[in-house]
Parts: sequence; structure tokens; C-alpha cells
Amino acid sequence: MAMGRLCQIAIDGPAASGKSTVARIAAARLGAFYVNTGEMYRALALACLGEGLDPASEPRKVAARLAGWDMTFRDAGNGSIDILLNGNMIDKKELRTPEVTAASSSVARIPEVREYMLQRQRDCRSLGTIIMEGRDICTVVLPDATAKFFITATPLERGRRRLAQGEAAPGATLESVAAEIEKRDLADSTRSVAPLRPAEDAEVIVTDGMTAEEVADRVLEVFRMKAGCAEGGEEP
Ligand code: CDP
Repeated sequence: MAMGRLCQIAIDGPAASGKSTVARIAAARLGAFYVNTGEMYRALALACLGEGLDPASEPRKVAARLAGWDMTFRDAGNGSIDILLNGNMIDKKELRTPEVTAASSSVARIPEVREYMLQRQRDCRSLGTIIMEGRDICTVVLPDATAKFFITATPLERGRRRLAQGEAAPGATLESVAAEIEKRDLADSTRSVAPLRPAEDAEVIVTDGMTAEEVADRVLEVFRMKAGCAEGGEEP
């Protein structure tokens, strides 16, 4: 693809909105890389917990520790990326525990952490055509993305999805999961750095009653309209 233009699709949205599933499906159909930035914050949260650092009460210590953590990415060979911390590959299953989930929101509020992530996330553009999802991808990380989306659903619907994923804490109920989600929404959307909000030019998709396939269809439809990119990740 000699002088071709690489495309970026940027997706933001709140917890358990289904954006990861949608991004994965759309990336597979397009032959693009799927980049999940939540996993990057989760990986730092795991590193904090592993060293006995509490990102909620010790943000300064976490900020001071950052220089010693070298986060890098590589092509995982399956359309997504591996995350390496100081050369060691992170086991993604370890990123999905309730402890890491709670700590990730606190880690993500630390301004130095966001600065640390910004260039690393932008560097992912060199992988090829990418679909990147998170909380501030349209607004901060990739403001020039080819197509931008805000994917959401009501808290109750998101609670149902999280329970169905089997990631909730033991004994959790739909109400407790929905309450945890709303708490994290509030933390993510009221923080002073890179708060969660739809970009002005993002296509907002409220996904209650839609399957992930249907949402991915819509994402690709809008993307093709904007870019004229063909299937297989080829250039417009
Ligand atoms: O999968 P889920 O939506 O529950 O969370 P995630 O996307 O894995 O993100 C975990 C946490 O990282 C979120 O609660 C945010 O606080 C933070 N995050 C962020 O601040 N910015 C991003 N681009 C991605 C995640």
C-alpha cells in the first residue's frame, strides 16, 4: 500500500456499553487492529497493586513510579495487541478482576498517567488501520480519526451485560452491578483530566435492544461513508 493513508476509527463510551465487543467485531471485518486502551490503564493498575501501591490514596507515589514502568505493545498476531510491561507480557485475564477494575479508574485520574499514555496510544497508529476504544479517544487521543463514535446504553442494560460477562464480584446483583457502573461513570465523567464525554462530531449510538453485530454494522457503515475504505484494511 505504497502511499496509502492509514485510517483510524475512534470509539468512546462508558463501562460495559459493549464498545469492546463492537470494536473487536468491526476490526475483524475490516482487517484492522483492535486497540483497547482500557487494558492499558488496567495493566498499570495491576502493576500498582502488585507493588502494594494504592492509586486512590497514593496518586503522587504512582506518578513518581511511572518512569520505571516501560509499557510497550506488539502485534499479537490475532488482530489485537499484546501489552508488555518492562518486557513482560501481561496476561489479559489478570486485568479483569474486580480489584483491578476499581483501581483502573483511580489510576486513570492521575494526570501524569494520562500524559504517559497519550504518546504511547498515538504511536499505535503505526500498526496500520486501527480501531481504538476507550474514554477519551475521540476527544483527546485521536481527534483527527477518520470516524468517531460514542457507544452507550442505559446503566441497567450495561449492568445486565456485565453480569452476563461473568466479571462481576461474587454475590453481585443486577442492582449492585448497575450501581458500581454508575459510580465509575460518575468518576470517569467528572474527573478534571480527559473526562468521558461524547466528542462534538462523534456519532452517538445508544445500544439498548441492539446486538453487537448490529452496532458494528452501523460503525462500519458510517466509517465507509466517511472514508471510502474497502474491506481488508485497504486504502480509500
Ligand atoms: O471494560 P470497561 O468499560 O469496564 O472498562 P475499561 O474500558 O477496561 O476501562 C477501565 C477504566 O480505565 C475506566 O473506568 C476508565 O477510568 C479508564 N480509562 C480511561 O480513563 N481512558 C481510556 N481511554 C480507557 C479507560
